[in-house]
Amino acid sequence: NMCLQDMITMTKSCLATLLLLLILVQFGHLYPNSDMANMGCDECKLRENSIFSKPGSPVYQCMGCCFSRAYPTPLRSKKTMVVPKNITSEATCCVAKGVERIKVSNIWLVNHTDCHCSTCYHHKS
Ligand SMILES: *[C@@H]1O[C@H](CO)[C@@H](O)[C@H](O)[C@H]1NC(C)=O
Ligand SMILES: *[C@@H]1O[C@H](CO)[C@@H](O)[C@H](O)[C@H]1NC(C)=O
Repeated sequence: NMCLQDMITMTKSCLATLLLLLILVQFGHLYPNSDMANMGCDECKLRENSIFSKPGSPVYQCMGCCFSRAYPTPLRSKKTMVVPKNITSEATCCVAKGVERIKVSNIWLVNHTDCHCSTCYHHKS
């Protein structure tokens, strides 16, 4: 089950988000400073991508972290673990619920239309 991850994996995905944010910020001050204090694990929502957005045609992307639930590891799955853990956490990722392919300056992009916290998966692009 891709949804069952340990805390370390979850932290890694948050770090990846943080790194991506840092790169985007370097690119062109994507976020106003008021958002900066809070960055990294913000709530999962649509954010305007200022690199590709044009007046009248904003391009949105889902960003942020989702909360994870922690619960005692079911005995059944404990037996299958190499290193048994008493607590399992179920991580969710901020993913697009709706997407729209758009072309901006001859580059195909994905305009996200809706976000939600869901099973972590990786986009194939
Ligand atoms: C992206 O989606 C939003 C709302 O879903 C829409 O208002 C906007 O025009 C779209 N952007 C482009 C470039 O099509
Ligand atoms: C998990 O729980 C068992 C039984 O309650 C305990 O003996 C063990 O030390 C716990 N392991 C960890 C890593 O907390």
